[in-house]
Amino acid sequence: MSTEEDTGARRADRRTVRQMVIVGLVASALGIALGFSIHWFPAADSTQADKIDTLWDVLVVASVPIFVLVTTVVLFSVIKFRMRPGEENLDGPPLHGNTRLEVIWTAFPAILLVSLCTYAYIVLRDVEKAPAAAKGPERVVNVTGRQFAWTFAYDEGGKRFQTAQLYLPAGQSVKFKLHARDVIHDFWVPDFRLKIDAVPGITTSYRVTPKNPQALGAHDIVCAELCGLGHAYMRSTVHVLTPAAYRAWVRKMTTRAPAAGGATSKPLTQADAKRLFVSGNPSTNAIACGSCHTLADAGTSGQTGPNLDKGLKGKNAAYIKQSIENPNAVITPGYQANIMPPNFGQTLSSAQIDALVAYLAKVTNK
Ligand code: CUA
Repeated sequence: MSTEEDTGARRADRRTVRQMVIVGLVASALGIALGFSIHWFPAADSTQADKIDTLWDVLVVASVPIFVLVTTVVLFSVIKFRMRPGEENLDGPPLHGNTRLEVIWTAFPAILLVSLCTYAYIVLRDVEKAPAAAKGPERVVNVTGRQFAWTFAYDEGGKRFQTAQLYLPAGQSVKFKLHARDVIHDFWVPDFRLKIDAVPGITTSYRVTPKNPQALGAHDIVCAELCGLGHAYMRSTVHVLTPAAYRAWVRKMTTRAPAAGGATSKPLTQADAKRLFVSGNPSTNAIACGSCHTLADAGTSGQTGPNLDKGLKGKNAAYIKQSIENPNAVITPGYQANIMPPNFGQTLSSAQIDALVAYLAKVTNK
């Protein structure tokens, strides 16, 4: 090869590299723009959420260009250097590697990965940090997961009580201690961003501080670990209150009898029971019976649990009551244990359960 041809080939190589870099840069810019134009997350309602969202943005900026660059170079090479007719038996030019390139593509990813890990570790330490001790002992809520419901245990100034929905004061840090009774669950409030597994036999924990006042209101709680057939129903609600409203709520919870009495003076009617069957009791997280059970009188057609028109025929009130309060006591053939939430005894008042039992006994034994 003459010197002239040699420099010509080099110039062509350089042009190829330049084309590749330009295509890669344009594609990276488009990729980042796309990454930022999509609204990925719900509202960021804890003080920890902003740091986590920033971490996400940094990861998008760092990883999208690399993904796009690698993909573009691969596609570009496949098209540009594809085999043409007549080249079937040709071999490529012999290559001896390029030390400088190899050093770059080893060192650059290593530095990038170490930097991102360091940054992620700093964010993690930051969001797990305990609040300043000056504000007094931190609030701890013990959260217990079981198939398929959450229970929240409070200790407010030595007074203990449990709830089926979570209540928190805005602007104050809370530490969740997670427990599981049966299998692994995962406690997640998407608006707060953090989540952690609840594992039988060990206690896990994390902290959040709901923003004051942005977080005021209701937020979903979901189970983020596939834990059985009722996993999708393992939901609850966190109510973020102003500190004053929270204190009033605690007072109400600690002065009232802790049993889920609801203590309505009027006895519930059959129509009330039917409404409860169809719609559940959202304020205490009791899901609707009709969402899982078929019952002709209520017009429901759920298939998850037994058809009650058939299953409760000839059964007495005691059996029906036991089936609501302790669903695993008798399992209808063809169905599995642990599908029905075990906490209707807590999420429905005794008056509501009695009304449901009377209603079900009546309409299934016509
Ligand atoms: Cu508990 Cu999924």
